Amino acid sequence: MITLSACPCLLRSWFGYLALTALCLTTMRSSSGQTMEDFDSIQLATLKNSSGMTVKVTNYGAIVTSIVVPDRQGKLADVALGYNRIEDYINAVDKPYFGAIVGRYGNRIAKGKFAIGGETYSLAVNNGENHLHGGVVGLDKVVWSLKPIVVPGAQAVQLSYLAKDKEEGYPGNLQITVTYALNNQNELKVDYLATTDKATPVNLTQHTYFNLKGEGEGDILDHQLMLNANAYTPVDAGSIPTGEIAPVKGTPFDFTTLKPIGRDIDQAHEQLKFGMGFDHNFVINRAPGDASMQLAARVVEPKSGRVLEITTTEPGVQFYCGNFLDGRLKGKSGKAYVKRGGFCLETQHYPDSPNQPKFPSTILEKGKAYSSSTVFKFSVQ
Ligand code: BGC
Repeated sequence: MITLSACPCLLRSWFGYLALTALCLTTMRSSSGQTMEDFDSIQLATLKNSSGMTVKVTNYGAIVTSIVVPDRQGKLADVALGYNRIEDYINAVDKPYFGAIVGRYGNRIAKGKFAIGGETYSLAVNNGENHLHGGVVGLDKVVWSLKPIVVPGAQAVQLSYLAKDKEEGYPGNLQITVTYALNNQNELKVDYLATTDKATPVNLTQHTYFNLKGEGEGDILDHQLMLNANAYTPVDAGSIPTGEIAPVKGTPFDFTTLKPIGRDIDQAHEQLKFGMGFDHNFVINRAPGDASMQLAARVVEPKSGRVLEITTTEPGVQFYCGNFLDGRLKGKSGKAYVKRGGFCLETQHYPDSPNQPKFPSTILEKGKAYSSSTVFKFSVQ
């Protein structure tokens, strides 16, 4: 049995001035006869800060397995959906991508096909006729290497993975590093870097499902959401963008000021039918080509007072409100994850960009560096 929850805190003195707070890094061991060769190398790192916030990260899928934050009374709750046991991540019948890094291409590529420089590539198709979240064995299902690193003012781990040429059909050997850093201001910063030896599409994102009441505490329809987006990218019935960049004004997609996620979700709108609710990419308000940190979203859970603010260098954010959860999966506290029991705010480039000439490019050229950052900041009001 592999247990992700037991993590004796080891104070790592070589962590220098960061040693004041503890970083646990425990190697998980299997006794359940599971065949996955990599089980012995699966690790769990616990990042802690001086405000009592804790974030756990495993090198399987670079998954954030837990985010524990206080409410306005100081009461702690785990606000990230996930499992206690690594087997559940590996064997999950449904593939919800709880907490994982998804890619090489987070989101969909139509029919799994695209062309670069006249050459057509065919990717693994795993979502109807389309490619989703990097394919059958995307970055969420591989074992990364994990090491603690020194980030001033934060506790941090760095995960690395080499996605090989032709893996899931993608061209080029892609060397990826993802850093998770937790500081004392309750900010979890995720930095992505990648380089390739052949031009390839890259669109990495973080797929945590949040429920600011606590994981398993019902649905998230009462959470209030603000998206810093005057426009979104409508999709077809297969959730592939039509290419249009449509204004949100006057539609259920208008989250320009805080409103409960559930307020307009049942409106008779074709896009809500296609997504079975909100499952759309929003175009973050920023000047074209601007890649500075910009506010993407603010979420307030009125009862607990917990607030999540997301800033990013990315041009888009996929707002997915857990439409495909249906109560069959049980999470860390044994409670069922009901329909819309969590929301994802996946900062990223727009879906299907390799086939959409008007969308910002996602092609990483040989010799160039892919770099992207997102901050998840927790507070209370
Ligand atoms: C997608 C959804 C998908 C979910 C889980 C989200 O990023 O937008 O369509 O169901 O991931 O796979």
